[in-house]
Amino acid sequence: MKKKRALSGIQPSGKLHLGNLVGALSNWVRLQDEYNCFYFIADLHALTTGYADTKKLKEAVMDVAIDMLSAGLDPERSTLFIQSDIPEHSELHLMFSMITPLSWLERVPTYKSQIEEMKEKDLGTYGFLGYPVLMAADVLIYKADVVPVGQDQLPHLELTREIARRFNNLYKDVFPLPKDLLTASPVLPGLDGRKMSKSYGNTIGISDPPDVIMKKINTAITDPARVKKEDKGHPDVCNIFAYHKIFNSADAKQIRVDCSSAKIGCVECKKIVAKKLNEYLAPIYEKRKTLEKRKDYVRDVFAEGAKKAQVMARQTLSEAKTAMGIF
Ligand code: TRP
Ligand code: SF4
Repeated sequence: MKKKRALSGIQPSGKLHLGNLVGALSNWVRLQDEYNCFYFIADLHALTTGYADTKKLKEAVMDVAIDMLSAGLDPERSTLFIQSDIPEHSELHLMFSMITPLSWLERVPTYKSQIEEMKEKDLGTYGFLGYPVLMAADVLIYKADVVPVGQDQLPHLELTREIARRFNNLYKDVFPLPKDLLTASPVLPGLDGRKMSKSYGNTIGISDPPDVIMKKINTAITDPARVKKEDKGHPDVCNIFAYHKIFNSADAKQIRVDCSSAKIGCVECKKIVAKKLNEYLAPIYEKRKTLEKRKDYVRDVFAEGAKKAQVMARQTLSEAKTAMGIF
């Protein structure tokens, strides 16, 4: 039986953090056997919010490329590429922009909230409003069956289906409707208990060396009600405990008991989890160190991937153009 196609993208915002790893990348890695996978670095999407300062973009793309390979994405099994290497995405984006009502874009929940959140940037641009149109082009140009994404991307994917339906109705049935593939991935809080995010400065990088990880874990906020070691802890409100559940799952039960009865102190508890985390990250860290010295190889991998992806992208674009009545 032919494998279904999975496609997903990640924005290059520099080196990836642990939240990216447990939230997205480890899922991507897992899907590689079951699906024919297309994974790309969404550098054009990065421009929608980062257009004013692009000095670091190339470096950020390279960092994500290295992290993808280090985390276990395998170019033998998956097609890995950089979005801007395939101009067909942009062309389909333009075609979709003709048929996408403004009202659909304005009601995407993240649209207004992100403008609010990133007040320091002027996001009143055409490109930012069109973010989901570009995403629709990314997905539909490969006729993806499934799109592994996080909860926050569901409205975008819904819009992708609406654009596909509209295109199919107006012209011809070119685009199958993609499904989201929501994998229940654990939520990994940042060091301060908020969502792990670059913009909060509360991240642990997947390429942080062991001593940095130890230090960061040491500064992490724990159960705020636990001031002295004799105070009984509440693991469910402690973000270090969330780490235990993911990276030290075999012993998490015991940690819960020991914390709740004040048998273990936070310092020791943190030491244990930092050690587990470092064990988990060690192979990724090693691989990254090797690849950092082989950037030409990394570039080649993504160039090869682009070649493969482009064959499909060209084919779909040509079908779409014919359907739409243009060359
Ligand atoms: N918007 C996605 C994110 O920020 C990245 C992305 C761009 C994407 N194009 C995509 C994800 C296509 C899935 C499919 O996470
Ligand atoms: Fe959190 Fe561990 Fe301290 Fe309990 S002992 S509050 S789980 S860091």
